[in-house]
Amino acid sequence: MPERLKDKIAIITGAGRGIGAQTALRFCEEGAVVVIAELDPLSGEATAADLRSKGFQSFAVQTDVSDPTSVCDMMTEVVKSVGRPDVLVNNAGINLFRDPLELKPSEWRRLFSIDLDGVWWCCQAALPHMLAMGRGSIINVASVHAFQIIPGCFPYPVAKHGVVGLTRALAIEYAAKNIRVNAVCPGYIETQIAIDYWNTFDDPDAERLYTYNIHPPKRIGTADEVAWPIVFLASEEAGFVNGAALMVDGGRSILYHD
Ligand SMILES: NC(=O)c1ccc[n+]([C@@H]2O[C@H](COP(=O)([O-])OP(=O)(O)OC[C@H]3O[C@@H](n4cnc5c(N)ncnc54)[C@H](O)[C@@H]3O)[C@@H](O)[C@H]2O)c1
Repeated sequence: MPERLKDKIAIITGAGRGIGAQTALRFCEEGAVVVIAELDPLSGEATAADLRSKGFQSFAVQTDVSDPTSVCDMMTEVVKSVGRPDVLVNNAGINLFRDPLELKPSEWRRLFSIDLDGVWWCCQAALPHMLAMGRGSIINVASVHAFQIIPGCFPYPVAKHGVVGLTRALAIEYAAKNIRVNAVCPGYIETQIAIDYWNTFDDPDAERLYTYNIHPPKRIGTADEVAWPIVFLASEEAGFVNGAALMVDGGRSILYHD
């Protein structure tokens, strides 16, 4: 088994479950030491303990990505415990879908504080260490919503457009310093966040089936199918991939209509 991330120190935010947890597993299998920077201490510790029970090196640091102090504290602990991060995966995120005119200021602020500000606080904390080492790879988990608009999903796509903008801006700023910044843009992925969304409909099963049918492969993606592209972007195999926003959506976003 190739170890694409051998001895790399990787921080994955929101890795207590879903895409982040699966990415943590694949990173460990590829030889990385993985820090689970998760808001929920129980799921964060459970993910790290599960990885350790498989013989991998992982530990959790409770982190609220929306709070720059919490992010700085996490980075200090990582550097002290295992060293400077080679890879940062900004995966933590929430959904918020509202009628624009019914959106409360506090809801707008909360979404942006996690989905966009949180990505930046983590980049800002990691970049000085990557600059000091002369290498680094940052992968931001954006969304198809960074390019496509689904009515009724405001303001989530606004924040995800911002994540791709941030990715591209940082990619150019730090390219000559051997730091790559890329994004993955998942479409529908079957995690709790998607299940919670279906549960907002009167008939969640019908909505799930509808979702499957609008995708060219007649299914949606798995967390593992996002984890592998993140592994690729983190690895030297993607050494000349910078500022990319890689769609991981089964081709749905290029479909005009059936
Ligand atoms: N599942 C999908 O269909 C889908 C599609 C496109 C993009 N995404 C994006 O992928 C990422 C992961 O999604 P998922 O489906 O695995 O979601 P999930 O809800 O299963 O997992 C998100 C994790 O982030 C953590 N988190 C939330 N707020 C946090 C904070 N302030 N600080 C640290 N951690 C925090 C949660 O506790 C949770 O463990 C998100 O950025 C999401 O927007 C998901």
